[in-house]
Amino acid sequence: MTAVTAPADFAGQVAIVTGGGSGIGRAVALRWAVGGGDVVVVGRRTGSLEETAGLAERYGVRAEAAACDVRDADAVGALVDRVAADHGRLDALVNNAAGNFVSAAEDLSPGGWRAVVDIVLNGTFYCTHAAGRHMLAAGRGAVLNVIASYAWHGHPGTVHSAAAKGGVLAMTRTLAAEWAGRGVRVNCLSPGPTETEGAGAALWPTDEARQRVLASVPAGRFTTPEEVAESAAFLLDGRRAGYVTGDVLTVDGGQWLGRAVYTDGTRGGGA
Ligand code: HXC
Repeated sequence: MTAVTAPADFAGQVAIVTGGGSGIGRAVALRWAVGGGDVVVVGRRTGSLEETAGLAERYGVRAEAAACDVRDADAVGALVDRVAADHGRLDALVNNAAGNFVSAAEDLSPGGWRAVVDIVLNGTFYCTHAAGRHMLAAGRGAVLNVIASYAWHGHPGTVHSAAAKGGVLAMTRTLAAEWAGRGVRVNCLSPGPTETEGAGAALWPTDEARQRVLASVPAGRFTTPEEVAESAAFLLDGRRAGYVTGDVLTVDGGQWLGRAVYTDGTRGGGA
């Protein structure tokens, strides 16, 4: 049995994190760097990516900001090949880039549907396809896909995102089964309401909306990108999670179970 000697040890390893310029992506990239791993953050906004890379470098690792739209399969393939050649390896891919807005299904245009499905579902496949080839050749690697619980329970106003994330969940399980015997693990992380600038502005823009979201979480609080990143680090760490593949780690304070209430309408425990 391999002894676990440190909280997380990614020294000598290389990760690519999409959507790494802000929020959960930035926190996961920094958590990887804290563990000693080199990191490449990918996204569309160069400024915020460079900021993340600068923060990561403070932990003494090599960090790079790479501008790339995950919807462009050729650009993704070229970037992943270049990173793997540069570092001589590729150990982890975190598919965190997402696009989302709330829209009633009947009002959603084909262009709106395509924009979200292209980023979330197609982008995840392009990145995983490109990175997976290097991981399979090396016989080791971990892919982590960030989804949302509406991938399995659905949610009004998110038909594009829920369908795309549901597709990512099916992709995760399929690739996990395909690649388990070849050393590559594929898992999902499903964060609940996370206190980030983007999420706050888009998902709970008013105090009333914020209170409503809060009331839907049995744990009675939002989570933080840093807390979510700890779960990501666990799943990416082959010494701890080496036997975990094709699964979803839900980090939501019980939100999706929150519909389970006592017959008097309470959840018990004062929640
Ligand atoms: C209705 C909209 C819209 C909106 C865009 N569209 N925003 N429709 N309401 N608020 C439509 C446009 O009209 C257009 O349709 C089509 O979508 C494409 O829009 P563009 O702006 O041209 O696309 P693009 O610049 O590529 O932007 C993609 C995007 C954008 C998805 C629309 O929001 C984006 O890139 N966001 C990235 C950041 C983000 O959203 N992060 C949040 C992730 S949070 P037509 O018909 O004109 O072509 C997340 C987790 C949620 O996903 C979990 C909750 C618990």
